Amino acid sequence: MRKVIETRRTGPEEFVENLETVLDIYTAAMRPPHDQLSGRLAIMRNHASYPGFLCIFALDVETPNAPLIAGFAYGFHGTPGQWWHDVVRRSLQDRAGPRVAEDWFGDALELAEIHVHPNYQSKGVGRRMIHEICAGRHERTAVLSTHDEPTAARHLYRAVGFMDLMTGFVFPGGYENYAIAGARLPLST
Ligand SMILES: CC(C)(COP(=O)(O)OP(=O)(O)OC[C@H]1O[C@@H](n2cnc3c(N)ncnc32)[C@H](O)[C@@H]1OP(=O)(O)O)[C@@H](O)C(=O)NCCC(=O)NCCS
Repeated sequence: MRKVIETRRTGPEEFVENLETVLDIYTAAMRPPHDQLSGRLAIMRNHASYPGFLCIFALDVETPNAPLIAGFAYGFHGTPGQWWHDVVRRSLQDRAGPRVAEDWFGDALELAEIHVHPNYQSKGVGRRMIHEICAGRHERTAVLSTHDEPTAARHLYRAVGFMDLMTGFVFPGGYENYAIAGARLPLST
């Protein structure tokens, strides 16, 4: 049966109130090692304090009094001093020069997380949340990182207009390959 999904725009307070559910969806979608979960929770809580923080919840409203959170996406305005922003911007600057780095990261919505519970994947929920989070933003660009593999996420980002800024990118202390992608706002597709 087709699920009835609604999206809701939420700020940092409601996001933090729902952090346990958010982490459950993250865990079901990403299957991270258990010992990484407390660190991930701390990172998400910290992200909620960043400027321009916005979270989109996708809600299964078939039971209107107790809607289930089926997915979430959140982002914020990237600024110097934020770990991801500094690392990725510096690397793009090294590879492509300061003008390119400033163009993509000088006024950017940073899409930090997007996850849909496996029960709700491949039904257009992710696509809807990306459009929703980018709609009405004042930034020039949206930027993100994702595993540099042929995943549903990679397919979806390309489909809504993101292009690769860097591939084969390895974060400090990490070993997996990531792609750094960016799109001009407003999204055109
Ligand atoms: C990535 C994710 C958020 C997408 O949300 P979703 O609701 O499943 O996505 P949508 O239904 O809106 O769109 C998925 C698209 O990917 C395609 N797709 C699905 N599985 C795919 C795969 N393994 N490889 C390539 N494309 C795939 C679908 O066909 C669809 O494309 P289409 O609309 O052109 O047909 C969701 O699948 C998810 O949470 N995955 C696990 C966690 C994750 O990887 N998060 C992103 C981290 S950067």
